[in-house]
This record gives sequence, C-alpha cells and structure tokens, in this order.
Amino acid sequence: MKKTIRDYQLFNKKVLIRVDFNVPIKDGIILDDNRMIESLPTIKYAIQKKAKVILFSHLGRIRSEEDKVKNDLRPLCEKLSLLLEQPVIFIEQTRGDCLEKAVQTLKCGEVLLIQNTRYEDFPDKKESNNDEALGKYWASLGDIYINDAFGTSHRSHASNVGIASHLPSGIGFLIEKELGTFRNILDSPERPFTVILGGSKVADKIGVIQKLIHSLDYLLIGGAMAYTFLKAEGLPIGSSIVEEQWVPFCSNLLKKYPDKIILPIDTIVAKEIKKDAEHRNCFISDIQKEEIGLDIGRSTIKLFKQYLDESRTIVWNGPLGMFELEPFSYGTKSLCEMISSLDAKTVVGGGDTASAIINMGYKEKMTHISTGGGASLELLEGKNLPGIEIIEEK
Ligand code: 3PG
Repeated sequence: MKKTIRDYQLFNKKVLIRVDFNVPIKDGIILDDNRMIESLPTIKYAIQKKAKVILFSHLGRIRSEEDKVKNDLRPLCEKLSLLLEQPVIFIEQTRGDCLEKAVQTLKCGEVLLIQNTRYEDFPDKKESNNDEALGKYWASLGDIYINDAFGTSHRSHASNVGIASHLPSGIGFLIEKELGTFRNILDSPERPFTVILGGSKVADKIGVIQKLIHSLDYLLIGGAMAYTFLKAEGLPIGSSIVEEQWVPFCSNLLKKYPDKIILPIDTIVAKEIKKDAEHRNCFISDIQKEEIGLDIGRSTIKLFKQYLDESRTIVWNGPLGMFELEPFSYGTKSLCEMISSLDAKTVVGGGDTASAIINMGYKEKMTHISTGGGASLELLEGKNLPGIEIIEEK
C-alpha cells in the first residue's frame, strides 16, 4: 500500500502537490475543467491542515516559444482561484529567485501555482527526460511531495518521479480513488463484465484486449478500430480505416473467442469525412467500395443494448464513431445515454470519451469517469505506473 496525504503531518509544511491540469483550452477558455475539479479534495485538505501548498502541473507539449505562449498556466490559476474561493499566487517561472522567494514567504493555508512544468522541455526536454538536477531542485522547494496527477502517472518525468526521489512522498485522494476503482475491476468484477472499446486504432488497445479478454464476458467493439476486426471476418469495409498489420491478430482473437467479441452489424457511411457529408445507415455487407464507416448503426446500438442491459460491470474506452462531427456522433451519444441509465458499475476511461460524456451532462450518472487517458489504459493493461511506483510504501 502506498502512503497517502493522510499519512503526513502537513501543518506549516511546504507541501509540493503534482496535479494534472492538462485540460482542453482554447484562446484562454477552459473547455473541460473536470481534472481541476477532481484535484480539489487533495488541495483543500492540504489547505485545511494549514500546509503551504505548492502546485505543479504541465499543460500541452512544449517544443517552441510559441507553445509556451499557448500553454501558459495563468488562465488555470485564475480558474483554480475561483474553484477554491481563495487567491492563488502564480509564479511565471519554473525556477529562479522569484519562485524561491515566493515559496519562502508563503504562509500556512496559502496556495501557489508554478508555471507549466513543460516550459523546462524547451529547448532540452528537462522535464520529460526526468533531468536529475531539475527534480532535485524542485524537491528542494518543499518538505513533502504528494502525487495527485493520475493522468500523468504513466510518465516518468522530473515533476513526478524526479521530485519523489528526493522527498517523503504520498498519493492524493484522486489517485487513491482511481487506483481503488481499477483494482476492484481487475480483481473481482461483478458479472457479466462487459468492456466497450472504440477509438481509431487497434494498436492502442492491444494491451488491454490481451489483459482482459480472459476475464471479461463480452467485448463490444466500435469506432474506426472495428473495421480491422470486420476485415478479419472477411467482410467488405469499403474505404474505412484498416490497420493491415493487425488483421491476423484480430482474426485469431475472433476464432478463439467467438462468443465474447461482438462487432457492429451496421454502420453509418459517407464518402467524405466532413460535417455536411451525405451519409446513410447500411449493413456491413452492403458497404460500397468508396464509402467510409464513421459510426455504429442503429441495429448495432440495439445489439449492444442487449449485452449492456444484463451487464453488472461496464468499462468503456474510446468513442464509437467520429463524434466530433454531428452526423457521426449518434452512436457514442446513444451508448452514453443507455449506460447512464443502467444499474451497473460504469467506468469510463479518460481522454476523448470522458470529455464527451461530461460535456453531454452524464458525469454524475457514471460510477467513475477516469481523469487519465493513457494512464487508465496502462492500468487496465496491468502495467505499473512510474509516477505511482516511486511513491513510498506504508
Ligand atoms: C494526458 O492528458 O493524458 C496527461 O496529462 C499526459 O499528457 P501527455 O500525453 O502529454 O504526457
């Protein structure tokens, strides 16, 4: 068991908390603040215990000076201040006098947010390469390190693994909740246990399929990745996306688990990928050469419903169609609505599916929406996450 924030006396201590505020943001407007909301219990706990709270987060990827301008954390600082209902001090730099002085003069119960940790990635990737000196420097600013950035815990960076190597460490409430939910599913899912996988690439989901195929009861497949499976079945898929190299893998899987794997029986096709493209619902066997499958069809939604209705545990990762374009969003929306009304444990992987579900207003109706995209997938694959591995054991 990992130590948690509860295992430390925080009063008057400089507590470094790594959060994941890597949220979608456009022209300074935050499009989905779920990750920030989910970080609040840990931050508020530290404030309540009268710690001096110093927050670290990355935002986006920094490969140039322009990326720095686009990924400045200031708008997030303003948002955090609103969410916490107290001022949050923002330090524009990731190191130096100004930061050090601000940390030294920070009072108990005050909160400080340091500029985007990935500013250290330009020009020489110090954050992402877990530069030893950088991790040590950041650690020198505090007394205790708490990792609550679940979404980043599959990375081995200076702001998680680096700092944790030099300080007493623990996990925050968000990571504790994520680990509890996923462990429960991996160890003892209530049955029937159904996994829904979508998204564009089979390649991204191989690890999860290999890990879960033995323990799950049904695997429902949608999204662009379904067409590689359909091709493996020998069905026509027109001009839909196919990963040729994974056709033999899909074919073997279908032969080995014919009763577990459920593929779409119909699809929404169009000749072009654009929001006003002419489209139609057709059975898979009827897809024409120049047509591209862009969403699951109405009969597939009904078919999936039969499996979902009887399921007791449902894990969903990846959209079932190109939901960013209105005509191809119906499958993802319908499934979202269907799942949210079920009396089952429903867990949704982070990333695009999570944002879609939250924006459609279904957050409260799911048992758990993970704040990690890549991290939740790696956890489901049974991998160790370095940002969590490094944390001290009790
Ligand atoms: C995420 O959004 O998946 C995490 O914040 C990690 O971001 P990254 O993929 O840029 O490392």
